[in-house]
Amino acid sequence: MTTATNVEPDIRPADPCAMVIFGASGDLTKRKLLPSLHNLLRNGLLSPNFAIIGVAMDPLTDESFRARMRDGLLEFGGEIDPMVRERSDALSYVQGKFDDPDTYIRLRERLQAVDKTHCPQGNTLFYLATPPQFFGVITTHLGAARLVSPPTEGGPWTRLVVEKPFGRDLESAQALNRELLTVFDESQIYRIDHYLGKETVQNILLFRFVNSIFEPIWNRRYIEHVQMTVAESIGIEGRGAYFDTAGILRDIIQNHMFQLLCLMAMEPPISFAGEEVRNEKVKVLHAVRPMEPEEILQRTVRGQYGPGVVDGQRVPGYRQEPGVAPSSTTETYAALKLYVENWRWADVPFYLRAGKRLAARDTEIVVQFRRAPLILLRDLSDHPQPNRLTIHVQPDERITLHFAAKRPGPKVRLAPVNMAFAYKDLGDGNPSTGYETLLYDCMVGDSMLFHRADMVEAAWRVATPVLDVWQALPPRDFPNYAAGTWGPRSANDLLAADGHEWVTPE
Ligand code: BG6
Repeated sequence: MTTATNVEPDIRPADPCAMVIFGASGDLTKRKLLPSLHNLLRNGLLSPNFAIIGVAMDPLTDESFRARMRDGLLEFGGEIDPMVRERSDALSYVQGKFDDPDTYIRLRERLQAVDKTHCPQGNTLFYLATPPQFFGVITTHLGAARLVSPPTEGGPWTRLVVEKPFGRDLESAQALNRELLTVFDESQIYRIDHYLGKETVQNILLFRFVNSIFEPIWNRRYIEHVQMTVAESIGIEGRGAYFDTAGILRDIIQNHMFQLLCLMAMEPPISFAGEEVRNEKVKVLHAVRPMEPEEILQRTVRGQYGPGVVDGQRVPGYRQEPGVAPSSTTETYAALKLYVENWRWADVPFYLRAGKRLAARDTEIVVQFRRAPLILLRDLSDHPQPNRLTIHVQPDERITLHFAAKRPGPKVRLAPVNMAFAYKDLGDGNPSTGYETLLYDCMVGDSMLFHRADMVEAAWRVATPVLDVWQALPPRDFPNYAAGTWGPRSANDLLAADGHEWVTPE
């Protein structure tokens, strides 16, 4: 993990490499990958020996590909650095179908040419920015075309970045892992999760393990429960055809939220080396016992939005969105109560909720501490709220500690007060898409922020039984929340049954 968006004198530029982007004519390349590479370049973090080869089916030439990328940069990255214009010959394009062996012959020729012109020293980063059905196909063809070298100590490297979704259940994720692992070694595979590129998410690890004051109370003795919310006010943004086959559990919870859970619940690693951190993270997922069907009915809630009002605008219901079946039973909201069954967390509920078209965009984690053991002031009219620590991941990046203080005056009265740290006070004005750190890390071989095969499978082991039960028992009350609200009422009941309530994001 680096802070690759900062210009730090002690961060070296990434290794020389040729980056091959499959699906280069798609949205991800234009919106995220190119703007991030542009930011890395501006910050001196790309090697001068760097080239990009786009591969896709669209009939483009090198020139028209460059023009498209330039337009994308202007649209999503703002102005273009003059250095980038000078280096536009580092961008080239290979047209071809992903399942056609000839595509890979042309790609090999292009890599050989780039090796002469840009000297990436034999290092190749393959990036699969394609729909998931091509992940296995492309990898197999790369292997067959002998474009993948085994890992060697200090020699040229070949690495593979795989976008989400990684499988749609345990079985398909295992099959995909097997397919990738016949061609690549696990140490060469970087399963990307853009949530882990967020500064505030990376900070969870540092917040917990660099400061000494939190760790002693970070356990079942002091923490009553933890709430995690990924709320989005947007709907499905024209991605109906994809989302209707996925649902929020697959789209957000199984990947992004389970990673947040790992960071919040993991044991201290012995170092910040990639494998050490990942070893501790995967143990959290192993400690979440998959639920039995009866438990799933009691500890999970799903919802789907109907028409409503978001930011003062009337918006259609999910079933009226383009690409969505008119009687769709896909969930756009889910809430789960999970237990991490280990000595640190036994009996502490972790409540996770995620939803589309909610009242606000907010990702936050609330750690609620146990109440003080004695109520010293029995006649107090205003009972103190339990202490809470809130990690606001986005959009307003902050960490807030909530506690009670005496109101000034002769009478003993309490006021809820906060201590707050705002990320913006650290003054990093560098533009960032969230992909910079991740791309830089792949190019220097730091895998800490990426999912490992066993992590993905452990996450699916928890999520798949829920999906199975939901599929076997189609919901009868969908749509069950109006767009622009905080989700279905049953999600409140989930916490109310334990005497808790969701903390509404501030
Ligand atoms: C993606 C999901 O992984 O994450 C989207 O597919 C979701 O549905 C997005 O909107 C949220 O990411 P962010 O960074 O905007 O919170």
